Amino acid sequence: MNKIIITIDGWSSCGKSTLAKQLAKKLGYIYIDSGAMYRAITLYFLRNHIDWTNDISVSDALSNIQLAFIFNHESNQYEIHLNHENVEWLIRDLVVAEKVSEIAAVGLIRKFAVAQQQLMGKEKGIVMDGRDIGTTVFPDAALKIFMTADILIRVERRYKEMHDKNPNITLEEVKNNLSHRDYIDSNREVSPLKMAKDAILIDNSHLNMEEQLTIALQLVENLV
Ligand code: DC
Repeated sequence: MNKIIITIDGWSSCGKSTLAKQLAKKLGYIYIDSGAMYRAITLYFLRNHIDWTNDISVSDALSNIQLAFIFNHESNQYEIHLNHENVEWLIRDLVVAEKVSEIAAVGLIRKFAVAQQQLMGKEKGIVMDGRDIGTTVFPDAALKIFMTADILIRVERRYKEMHDKNPNITLEEVKNNLSHRDYIDSNREVSPLKMAKDAILIDNSHLNMEEQLTIALQLVENLV
């Protein structure tokens, strides 16, 4: 089968990246975490105190940002580098999570990220997850998946993930952050999170990792 583009969009913390990584591995495709790009840009803006409400400051900052996904043989995955620094762990911090949706809503920033994402898909053979991948980045992708899960289940999953890094974090903080991000991501003016008309919905509230992978692989097989 010729290589295709697979897009996975959906709400925060509903397992998009887990499924995307597994699918990419099974198919021998490249996995790209588009959220990591917005998080790395956010880290740059916070570190350098850039005013993201000012177009000139934003353009200027973007011209100094270089993003690259580089394979790490220890973790066995592609990790994001911001101006040659591996920031894969730093960008998962709550400080970044608290601001990323606001920064990802800025038109100039989306234009910058989308252009790079489209280049990465030129050769196909890619699984990319995010919020607007099936609607804006690859509207002609062969397979589009939209993922959802019950909010309480998503909060628990993200809490477990973040608690390992930051034992002081509370369930309430995680829930507030997820609800806040979902609200901004789905209500922003530029490419808001929404299900593409031709996307297939997977609700994984009660699915384990193998079950969701089996469903997705079946969707790929159905394309042949
Ligand atoms: O997938 P994630 O939680 O790491 O994404 C972080 C934020 O980036 C998310 O709250 C919204 C934004 N994002 C986006 O606007 N568009 C994408 N394609 C991916 C992420």
